[in-house]
Amino acid sequence: MVDFSQVHNIDDFKRLARGYLPRPIFDWIEGGAEDEISLHNNRTAFDRVRFKPKTLVDVNLRDQTTELFGKPMASPFAIAPMGNLSLFWPEAETVIAQAAAAAGIPFALSTASAVSLETVAEKAGGRLWFQLYVFKDKKVNDSLVDRAAAAGYEALMVTTDTHMFPKRERDRRNGIGLNLKKTPANIAAVMARPRWLWNVVLSRPMPKLANLEREVSGSTTYEALANYFLSQRYNGFDLDDLKRLRDRWKGKLMVKGILNVEDALRAVEIGCDAVILSNHGGRNLEGSAAPFEVLPEVVDGVGGRIPVLLDSGFRRGTDICKALAIGAKAVMLGRPAAYAVSGAGKDGVGHMLATMKDEVDRVQGYLGCTKIDQLNRDLLLFDRQRPGANATMI
Ligand SMILES: Cc1cc2nc3c(=O)[nH]c(=O)nc-3n(C[C@H](O)[C@H](O)[C@H](O)COP(=O)(O)O)c2cc1C
Repeated sequence: MVDFSQVHNIDDFKRLARGYLPRPIFDWIEGGAEDEISLHNNRTAFDRVRFKPKTLVDVNLRDQTTELFGKPMASPFAIAPMGNLSLFWPEAETVIAQAAAAAGIPFALSTASAVSLETVAEKAGGRLWFQLYVFKDKKVNDSLVDRAAAAGYEALMVTTDTHMFPKRERDRRNGIGLNLKKTPANIAAVMARPRWLWNVVLSRPMPKLANLEREVSGSTTYEALANYFLSQRYNGFDLDDLKRLRDRWKGKLMVKGILNVEDALRAVEIGCDAVILSNHGGRNLEGSAAPFEVLPEVVDGVGGRIPVLLDSGFRRGTDICKALAIGAKAVMLGRPAAYAVSGAGKDGVGHMLATMKDEVDRVQGYLGCTKIDQLNRDLLLFDRQRPGANATMI
């Protein structure tokens, strides 16, 4: 049982994760592309917007529930899809989904999950979204989509920003490829984290890409599945592919990885149910804008026809409330869930979600909002110091 008495924010969870995970694994979660400027900018973008609170309001009764696709969310955030979570904690995908269900928020399961989509649905319940990495092999895409439908997933979340192989230099330096290279430094890093070594490596079979086990013919070893995954990266994804998925998937369709208002409008036109602005947490295209920076123009462009969600860099209730005030429907948390499960399993994720909920509650109270949809742009001061900046630029 982890003592949470000194765990007050996401950075505290990060500290716990750093102490539990071997350094290269921690770096794999933490790192971004190239010089990590986009990674850094995802955080600093929030500092360029400040609050103008309304204090002459009775906020004795506060409610942060919202709805998405006609269903309630206990808080205006969800868990973003992350691959290989079970490399951090046993059955982490199920554990995080269970904690999300208990907190009344949705969980997005990655294609690259180490627990199959069927098992997560069976063991976790709650609102589940299935994230699809679109493969070259359309038969596999169709099969994954059909399996997610059969397992009762509410939404299909198509990721559009990972069609190139990202240049994450921490991983290259650390020798993270298909496997962690057996260098003296890596062996020492692993030996220095015995709890992780026992939990993830020694006490159970090594996690592998469980969703693909039923999709490939031949060997289903960890290496075979990982090789298959890499060989299937599809650079050709375009609007026609998205339309094809729209035709096949009858549930809610969300498009993740949008940063451009024209793409968002195309998604609206072909009948997608939500867009998720994302730069993959600064992990893919270095130099990409923070989703928070493009939020105003996308919200204005989409004009309320479908909900706009976003992720990348959200660590505080203040960040979440700023995005909602600009017009986002909800935000997604990535690394915070990875840190929380790494240090402390399901309890850790529960504590992390409660911490974020508490922060949102405090901010909405300070701002004079009894309901979360009362957050609006009048409560924000946009940074006008930069040349050319105006009220809708961040
Ligand atoms: C360790 C890790 C694995 C990820 N794996 C996936 C994935 O499998 N599919 C996906 O669409 N996004 C993936 N992402 C991106 C997240 O869904 C999300 O966009 C990003 O983490 C949000 O930024 P944040 O970590 O700053 O909250 C991953 C992110 C991390 C940190």
